[in-house]
Amino acid sequence: MANQPQPSTEKSLSDELFDIVSQACWRWRLELCLLALPSGTFVLLHFKGKFGPVPSGILVGLMLVLIVATPPSRRLLGRMLHSARVRRNLDIAFMFVPGRISERKPRIISIEKTNSGDIAILRLRPGTSIKDLEDVTQIIAVNLEARHIKLTQDPARANRVSISILRTDPFDDKASPQPLLNKAHTDFWDPIPVGINDLGKVTFVGLPEHSLLIGGEPGGGKSVLLWSLLSAAALDRSVVLWLFDGKMVQLAPWRKCAHSFVGMDIDRATAALEALRAEMELRYQKLLEYEVEKVVKGDGLALHLVVIDELALYVSHPDKKAAQRFSDLLRDLLARGRAAGVIVVAATQKPSADVVPSSLRDLFGFRWAMRCTTKDASDTILGSGWATRGYSASEIDPARRGVGLLLHEGGIPVLLRTFELKYEDVVAIAKRAFNLRQNVDQGDEGSDK
Ligand SMILES: Nc1ncnc2c1ncn2[C@@H]1O[C@H](COP(=O)(O)OP(=O)(O)OP(=O)(O)O)[C@@H](O)[C@H]1O
Ligand SMILES: [Mg+2]
Repeated sequence: MANQPQPSTEKSLSDELFDIVSQACWRWRLELCLLALPSGTFVLLHFKGKFGPVPSGILVGLMLVLIVATPPSRRLLGRMLHSARVRRNLDIAFMFVPGRISERKPRIISIEKTNSGDIAILRLRPGTSIKDLEDVTQIIAVNLEARHIKLTQDPARANRVSISILRTDPFDDKASPQPLLNKAHTDFWDPIPVGINDLGKVTFVGLPEHSLLIGGEPGGGKSVLLWSLLSAAALDRSVVLWLFDGKMVQLAPWRKCAHSFVGMDIDRATAALEALRAEMELRYQKLLEYEVEKVVKGDGLALHLVVIDELALYVSHPDKKAAQRFSDLLRDLLARGRAAGVIVVAATQKPSADVVPSSLRDLFGFRWAMRCTTKDASDTILGSGWATRGYSASEIDPARRGVGLLLHEGGIPVLLRTFELKYEDVVAIAKRAFNLRQNVDQGDEGSDK
C-alpha cells in the first residue's frame, strides 16, 4: 500500500505571525481602543459631520483635555490602564512558566490595586489546580519583578484563586494614620478599620458578638490598638463604655466619654464589673419581654464595651480574693454577655496561665498577638499549634511597632500593622466624642442605657 501523505501539524510562518499579532492586539486591546476613540471621533466629525480638519482636530483635542483634566475621569482612566498593564504582564508571566500553567493559562477575572501591589482574581482552567500555580510562584514573581507572590484559594470554589502581587513591603513605610481620625461619628455595629495587612489592604474587625484578647511584649502597640477600637466606639454615642486602665494614663483621654472608668483599684474594678453584670441581667429580662434572643443592630438596645488595659494587673492582683472575684465576674460576662450586647476587649503582655487563668483566656473568640519574644508566648495568645503552622508573632521585627497577627473571622491569622494614633490625636477624638455624647445626654436620642 502506498504511503499516504501525513497532514502537517507544524504551523506555517504566516499562521504563527497571525497568532503573535492577534495575541498582542488582545493584550493591548484597551490601549488600542483608547487610541481608536479619538481617531474615530475625528473621522466622524470630519467626514460625516462635515467639519473641516482643523475644527475636528480642535474638538477632539478639547475632548481629550476634558477627560484628562477632570479628576474622576482621569482616575478612572489611570485605574483602567493600570489594570490592563497588570493583566498583560500576568498573562505574559504565565506564558513563561514550565508545566501545565503555560499550556492552560488561568483566566484573569479582575485586578485590584492595593497599597503594596495588586491582587488578581484568577479562574483556573480544567486540568490544572492551585498546586500547579504554587509550583511556579517563584518564577511568576521573577517574571513580574515582584517582591513576593501569595496565593489564596477561594474556600467556596477550588478553581477561584487570588494571587497577591507584592511590590513593596507594606510595613516598610510609616504606619498609616487611623481613617477614623477625622470622622464626626461612627456606627459601632459596622466593622472597624484597624490596620493594613501584609497584602497592603485595609483590615476591618467587627466586634459585636465577639470578644478580643490582645497580647504581646511591652511596647508592641497594644494600647495604640485599644485607642483605635475606642475611637470607633466612643464616636458612636449609643455605645456604653466601661474602661479599666491598669496604668491610669493609657485610657485616660476617654474617661469623660465612659460610663465607668477604673484605675488600679481592684475593689472599684470588681464593683464596676458587678454593676455591668446587673445591667446584663436586666438586658436579658428585656430580651425576654421583647421575645428576641439577642441584641441586634437597629433594635435600640445599646452595646456595652468593656476595655481592660493591663488585664494581668486585675486578674493577678496581690489581693487574691479580689482578683478571683474579678476573674469570676469577667468570665461570666464573657460567657453570657454576647447575646446581651456586652463586648470585652482586654490587653495584657503575656496571658500565660500563671497570669491569666486559662478558663478565662479560652473564652476570648478573637486573638491578637503583637510581637512576642518566643513562639510559646505567641501560641499563648493565638492558641497552641499556630507557631508550628508558621504563624508566630516572635518572628515580627521588633523595630516594627504595631505589627501583629490577628486571628478573627477568617480562622487563619492575618499579619497586619495597626493604624498609627498619637496621644494628641486620641485627645482630639475623645473631645469630639464627648461633645457628641453631651448632645445625646441632653435628650436628642433615646437608648436603654
Ligand atoms: N501602628 C503603629 N505604628 C507606629 N507606631 C506604633 C504603632 N503602634 C504602636 N506604636 C508605637 O509603639 C509605642 C508603644 O505602643 P503601646 O504603648 O501601644 O505599646 P503597648 O504594647 O501597650 O506597651 P505596654 O505593654 O508597655 O503597655 C507607642 O509609643 C507608639 O508610638
Ligand atoms: Mg500598653
